[in-house]
Amino acid sequence: MSCAHAYLPVDGGEGVFTLGSAEVTFGRGALREVGALVRALGARRVALFTDRVVADLEPVDRVRRSLAAAGVDAAVYADVRVEPTDASFLDAARFAAAGRFDGYVSVGGGSVIDTCKAAALYARWPADFLAYVNAPVGEGRAVPGPLPPHVACPTTSGTGSELTGIAVCDVLALRAKTGIASRWLRPARAVVDPDATRSLPAAVVAASGFDVLCHAIESYTARPYTARGASATPGARPMSQGANPWSDLGSVEALRLGGKYLVRAVHDAADDEAREQMMWAATLAGVAFGNAGVHLPHAMAYAVAGLVRDYHPEGYPAGEPMVPHGVSVVAGAPAAFRFTAALAPERHLAAAALLGADVRGAAAHDAGALLAAALGTLMRAARVPVDLRALGYGEADVDALVGGTIVQARLLDNAPRRATRDELAAVFRDALDARGPA
Ligand SMILES: [Fe+2]
Repeated sequence: MSCAHAYLPVDGGEGVFTLGSAEVTFGRGALREVGALVRALGARRVALFTDRVVADLEPVDRVRRSLAAAGVDAAVYADVRVEPTDASFLDAARFAAAGRFDGYVSVGGGSVIDTCKAAALYARWPADFLAYVNAPVGEGRAVPGPLPPHVACPTTSGTGSELTGIAVCDVLALRAKTGIASRWLRPARAVVDPDATRSLPAAVVAASGFDVLCHAIESYTARPYTARGASATPGARPMSQGANPWSDLGSVEALRLGGKYLVRAVHDAADDEAREQMMWAATLAGVAFGNAGVHLPHAMAYAVAGLVRDYHPEGYPAGEPMVPHGVSVVAGAPAAFRFTAALAPERHLAAAALLGADVRGAAAHDAGALLAAALGTLMRAARVPVDLRALGYGEADVDALVGGTIVQARLLDNAPRRATRDELAAVFRDALDARGPA
């Protein structure tokens, strides 16, 4: 497996990579430190972002008490949508601009943390909404400079948003899911307290846990950073650098932990060891994909989540149809990895082994099938939808799914194998129906 870990120089390719991350405070009881951390960052009056469900739970109460004890004023914004849109981002930004805050705190899942990032951005550097949105959906304009400090406190073990400079939303008029990516969006501090996940329903632990696994596999199998053209200046180097020695560390350990603890964490809310280890895996995978970037499964997921018609998942607030982010990613992931493995078989094989697959005697051409089967085994054990048909999609949707994926250029470029439109259609057809265990 040694060749899976080597980064050989490429003529004209990048020779430098950056170790970027939010500073992390991790451990049981860490939320008690939020007030002191916010104060140390120089903030005295913060906007506290959360959503209507989390607002009534203990983590928010704990953070509010910590802020008050440190003498920090907090104004609460709890109107975050489960699936943020351009409209909900702008509503949050109006709140942020009106409050003239000198800092931000977010307590919740990825939607809350992403909304806080966007609110801080548009309050500090106002612009038309599409200005900072990734091209080709938006203009992809660079964020001009730093934002006030943001302390992000995740309550799910999954998105890794607390560690990245990415905020994802639906652009309603275009029916497209896309995002804003800038290192200035990265929170100043991530406060990761495993106690915050105690009250999570099993289905939420499962969805967010598979998001973690996909962050780790995609970071690990991403195009190597050396395959990108060299950046002329440090500022021109993208956050999504491609796989690199730093992201490999987090990816490998997150996969090892996920293979061991994910199913346990789903089925037993009282299994503190498993839930804590999944929170640590989420942190490691978040650091990894914040540096390496994700690729094809996440690109497909934007379309899968954006085109939902009538899927109503268990464990999430009733109302509009939605596909939880982690489910939208993993439902297509086995087919995606069967496709990408052809150009990076060693790494796909290593990922399968880390998830618990027996890869003894496996050949390079087995890599995609083995990784897909390893994921499928875990998906069945955790009772998440195993294919796109389970989410309500069929053959007639393939064109639209391809259309929603092909615009995710940043992610598709980061894949070890770049898919053409026809190849994407074949991957989606493959993803409609799960294959049985290998
Ligand atoms: Fe994700």
